[in-house]
Amino acid sequence: MNSPSELEPRLDKTLALKQAFEPIAEDLSKVEDCIRAQAHAFDPAVEAYVAYAIESHGKRLRPALALLSGGATGAILPEHADLAVIVELIHAATLVHDDILDHADLRRGQPTANAKWGNSLAVLLGDCLFAHALKLAASFEDNRMCRRIAEAASEVCSGEIIQTQRRFDFKLTVPDYFRILEMKTGALFAVATQLSGLLNGASEATQKGLYDFGMRLGTAYQIYDDCLDLAGDEGTVGKTLGSDLRRGKLTLPILHLLNTSAPAERERLGGLILEGNEQEIRNLVETALSKGAVQHAVKTGRQMLQEARDGVSLLDHSIYKKSLLALCETLDGMIAPLGVSSPLGGG
Ligand code: IPE
Ligand code: IPE
Ligand code: MG
Ligand code: MG
Repeated sequence: MNSPSELEPRLDKTLALKQAFEPIAEDLSKVEDCIRAQAHAFDPAVEAYVAYAIESHGKRLRPALALLSGGATGAILPEHADLAVIVELIHAATLVHDDILDHADLRRGQPTANAKWGNSLAVLLGDCLFAHALKLAASFEDNRMCRRIAEAASEVCSGEIIQTQRRFDFKLTVPDYFRILEMKTGALFAVATQLSGLLNGASEATQKGLYDFGMRLGTAYQIYDDCLDLAGDEGTVGKTLGSDLRRGKLTLPILHLLNTSAPAERERLGGLILEGNEQEIRNLVETALSKGAVQHAVKTGRQMLQEARDGVSLLDHSIYKKSLLALCETLDGMIAPLGVSSPLGGG
């Protein structure tokens, strides 16, 4: 049984998200039903695998962004709900594939698809989810919708490819890192927010603002996630953590630590990462925390959240716009404590 202190951070985060999602609670619940119903579209032999991948308790951040951006640009139409379902299916597909790449065995508090059924089945399950999402996207009257959604899906996968290609590559720069984040995480957030504006016939400038908002929020969210991988607690977070360094993914805190170390120390740290000795990696994470590298990444993520707010400045005041901004606050409240927590201790 979890102790109250282990449960506390999860409850806080859930509550804060629930509050930010308040204006769309009913729509989001219908979207949830619709996401779950998608499993029935598959062959009976496949249905249970799909159901497993999509029914687990994700935060549904991307669907919420689609619905809130719809409300903030006019009205929440049935097409916004469709978009919400589609972006979550693409997200689910990327997670199934990502867990294979990361050799992760825990996701949303449950065994990953690869842990349960092996990599071969999980690859194909991810493919099924991608294909189904794009099939749904083809039903939009405006074919710019399907094109943009397909582009975003391709962007996410390309980001994961580049990240994989550059594992253990100590020439990776901070701009390279940001490019990967924009592709693998920002692109899907941005398509959810921008296309919601397009569905309501919003101006190009408003759509651009929404795109920027989604992109920055998504990038900040990935910075948060990367800090969590170093400084979070697996039991609280409900997914495999600590794998980024072991898999050679050089995230912002580690890049900062390397970039601010003298050449000899940089070389030594690089050697430890390549070697992958468990205790040495733990010591390295301690060093990253004690030298302020995680704090630096937290600061960068929080700055990006501030910048995200500018993206919705053109929108008229509404409860939905207020919620989009509240989401920035919530994420800020999630990332800020990571800069002060002990390594692999609190979440
Ligand atoms: C996890 O995304 C992958 C990242 C982009 C960091 P979420 O944190 O939105 O995952 P779920 O859907 O809530 O499980
Ligand atoms: C996010 O990267 C994966 C995608 C955007 C596809 P991570 O590998 O950090 O995500 P988690 O930590 O496994 O959820
Ligand atoms: Mg992963
Ligand atoms: Mg991660």
